[in-house]
Amino acid sequence: MPVSDQILAQQLSHTLSRTDFPALGEKYQGKVRDTYRQGDRLVLITTDRLSAFDHVLTTLPFKGDLLNTLASFWFEKTAHVVKNHVIDIPDPCVTVARRAEPFAIEFVVRGYLTGSLWRDYEAGRDPYGLHLPAGLTRDSKFPAPILTPSTKAPIGQHDEPMSEAQVLERGLVNARDWQRAKEAAMGLFAVGTSQAATQGLLFVDTKYEFGRIGDELVVIDEMHTPDSSRFWRAEGYEARLANGEAQVMLDKENLRQWLIAERGFSGQGTPPPIPDDVRVSLTQKYVSAWETITGSTFSPQVGNVAERIRKNLERAKLL
Ligand SMILES: Nc1ncnc2c1ncn2[C@@H]1O[C@H](COP(=O)(O)OP(=O)(O)O)[C@@H](O)[C@H]1O
Ligand SMILES: [Mg+2]
Repeated sequence: MPVSDQILAQQLSHTLSRTDFPALGEKYQGKVRDTYRQGDRLVLITTDRLSAFDHVLTTLPFKGDLLNTLASFWFEKTAHVVKNHVIDIPDPCVTVARRAEPFAIEFVVRGYLTGSLWRDYEAGRDPYGLHLPAGLTRDSKFPAPILTPSTKAPIGQHDEPMSEAQVLERGLVNARDWQRAKEAAMGLFAVGTSQAATQGLLFVDTKYEFGRIGDELVVIDEMHTPDSSRFWRAEGYEARLANGEAQVMLDKENLRQWLIAERGFSGQGTPPPIPDDVRVSLTQKYVSAWETITGSTFSPQVGNVAERIRKNLERAKLL
């Protein structure tokens, strides 16, 4: 059941754009999450901030809840593949996690030739050293998923694509960690692909972050959310591919396309304001993605998010 536009409109004025819990520890503000550090533990609060092209553009009602609970769903589903950082979820927006030493690389896994990789391919660029064969069609499926790493740029900067050879040459990740993180990324992607298939979806591509705790490899940050992944509707994929039509997406590419088409914005200069009706319809995309991926109904908790988080943190003895 979709959430009504009316409920989403009500929540527009309650969205969580920032948090302020100094008692939780030292704060690092990412684009989407506020991360508080307490020794070897992190408290990650997923806010309602929405980013695209590395800019924070607005907030969406319930986005923090949707993202964090979806990531938690996937962490559970994939726990047999690789250890993850989750300790506890004391609130729909909050993950208490083990702090890892993060690798400086984002592990992007792709099942299909689309998005920026298609644009590179079409322009004859090969930033990942993939040597793809000529004559491939946009949105076509790779025989096996591929890895297209990029550096993890500091806030305000863009990630830099990189070949596997460059990652190793520059010593950004050591060879052993690289090998096991790569295997883990492929294993996680396989679980994502089969779960997506049961829900009538194609798992197109995604980004993982890994780190080390002692000698243990762990997957950190978020996993298989619309912010980090692309999903397409499986039904009609072949026909659309054959006709050169765009695939039907379930994710934030929708916002990027709205920005490009309606506002001529593709990341350069000052981002435009996002009108409330667009915020509501983007939220519907997140809700529908959440419900389609999990196969359950999302029950929004209308009201003051910061207050709810405070209560739940107190209950969990974190405040
Ligand atoms: N378990 C962890 N250990 C260390 N760092 C983590 C862990 N989980 C997430 N992080 C980091 O916390 C930040 C999460 O905030 P986010 O809003 O996603 O930031 P960004 O703008 O860098 O994407 C990221 O920089 C991510 O790498
Ligand atoms: Mg992030």
